[in-house]
Amino acid sequence: MDTDYENRIVAPEYSSGNDSEIEYQLRPHSLSDYIGQEKVKENLSIFIEAAKNRGESLDHVLLYGPPGLGKTTLAGIIANEMGVNFRLTSGPAIEKPKDLAALLTNLNEGDVLFIDEIHRMNRIVEEILYPAMEDNALDIIIGQGPSARSIRIDLPHFTLVGATTRAGQLSAPLRDRFGVVLRLELYSDEELARIVKRSAGILDVQMDDFGAMQIASRSRGTPRIANRLLKRARDFAQVLGNGVITDATANMALDKMEIDELGLDSIDRLMLTCMIKNYNGGPVGLETIAAAIGEEAVTIEDVYEPYLMQIGFLSRTPRGRCVTPAGYRHLGFEMPGQQQLF
Ligand code: ADE
Repeated sequence: MDTDYENRIVAPEYSSGNDSEIEYQLRPHSLSDYIGQEKVKENLSIFIEAAKNRGESLDHVLLYGPPGLGKTTLAGIIANEMGVNFRLTSGPAIEKPKDLAALLTNLNEGDVLFIDEIHRMNRIVEEILYPAMEDNALDIIIGQGPSARSIRIDLPHFTLVGATTRAGQLSAPLRDRFGVVLRLELYSDEELARIVKRSAGILDVQMDDFGAMQIASRSRGTPRIANRLLKRARDFAQVLGNGVITDATANMALDKMEIDELGLDSIDRLMLTCMIKNYNGGPVGLETIAAAIGEEAVTIEDVYEPYLMQIGFLSRTPRGRCVTPAGYRHLGFEMPGQQQLF
């Protein structure tokens, strides 16, 4: 069966131009406005202050973690706090070495160059980055054949901020060139509630604490999803209620979108149900699950699994993925071969 991943309301990727525009509007611009990721913020603020005191650019930073947690936002904040320009690109967008050379030679002293999905950059382009990151230099080959020669161009000092959902896929030489490696974690419900309250203030939507908590608890630890659910709850409150997002309006909106009380949508439930019904709850290989639900293995790994593992519904074992007793219970199935306690 084909899944409609693109139109999935809880997809952590951007789903429309309008979404990314609003996301931009909701983005915090300083570390003090950024909610959650306390350890990351604490360390970053020290590195930023130290670099500023020394009058140097910040060391290269690698941000990794599931999509939608604020990696781009943090990169923008780093540039802002350092008082430098923010240049944004992505691994797949840099097709040729000359594209990267153009980006690098246009940087000003201290600028932040943000490369999203850096694990998808091709190896030839990647090799241009090594001397740029290490020696602030660009090595280019002029001419062809026996008369070819290499010349070195000096670059300004800059900070490369790389973002990836899969740190394990970066080559070792690239990974080793980042002085700061930070892992972003899924957010707690309380942090997400604070984020949606802040967003509601910016969007001028009225919402009570119960409404905020209802949205937060169904956003699978991800601010991008929380902000998207906030906008949909606003629509329901406006058309079917009095414009205020309360517990009841948030509940109604989320139920109508078939997002359950833990934030699982029909695709999460399909995946778990398929594992239970067809594979006795596992262990079952990732590729098998992917084929069974018509989804790509990388999407399952990056997008679906982190949250299902965080809430203890799925475990990864050396022999494959397993649905846990909590997962069985949530979907209303009995665990086979186990005595039921209730
Ligand atoms: N909007 C999206 N992510 C956020 C965060 N971590 N803090 C505040 N607002 C946000």
